[in-house]
Amino acid sequence: MAFNIAIDGPAGAGKSTIAKKVAKELSYIYVDTGAMFRAMALYCIRNGVNKNEEEAVSVACEQIDVSISYENGEQQVLLNGENVNGFIRTEEVGNTASAISVYGKVRTKLLELQRQLAETQNVIMDGRDIGTCVLPNAQVKIYLTASVETRGKRRFLELQEKGQKCNLEDICADIRERDYRDMHREIAPLKQAEDAVLVDSSEMTIDEVVNAILNLVAQAQQK
Ligand code: DC
Repeated sequence: MAFNIAIDGPAGAGKSTIAKKVAKELSYIYVDTGAMFRAMALYCIRNGVNKNEEEAVSVACEQIDVSISYENGEQQVLLNGENVNGFIRTEEVGNTASAISVYGKVRTKLLELQRQLAETQNVIMDGRDIGTCVLPNAQVKIYLTASVETRGKRRFLELQEKGQKCNLEDICADIRERDYRDMHREIAPLKQAEDAVLVDSSEMTIDEVVNAILNLVAQAQQK
């Protein structure tokens, strides 16, 4: 049977950095579900579909095919056959993804793909509703979080490193808004699954978090 690890948590908690490292250690496949929502958001932006209009976004869903493949172990997201990895990491796409992910049509479109990926292979999958909704039977579930200030500072340094102009206050405000929307939506909101282990990375290094998760996996595999 495939072994599944679910990592959920708010934006900027470090899920993808951590999940990638854990995947490498265990030779598991890393599945980034946020990237799938981002691909759908990119379609809406490119085609002038208003993210606030559920009907328009739902109709657009019928024109969208999202799939993933792997190149040198890195997940690639294909939007109607086009590799869009180079276009989905902007704030605009992230915020649009958060806005459209509240709609039922958008969520059901990606749910089947996510479940299929985890059915036959060992995966570590990150997102917002993996432990609660997508993979309720995952053998290990982590809820990874950090304070808004910590997440804001990490994001600020990341953008500065890329040479992008940014303001810490604005970044924190953005994070608060995204947290609120992801946690309060009607369908599959972000919350800690009852059987998930809470990891607060505010005062932890990346390696400490990775090791904590590897220990949880080892414990689960002994059962
Ligand atoms: O993890 P991320 O920043 O790439 O995700 C972008 C948005 O996509 C996030 O704000 C909410 C949505 N999302 C979701 O609703 N469910 C998931 N499993 C993953 C992401």
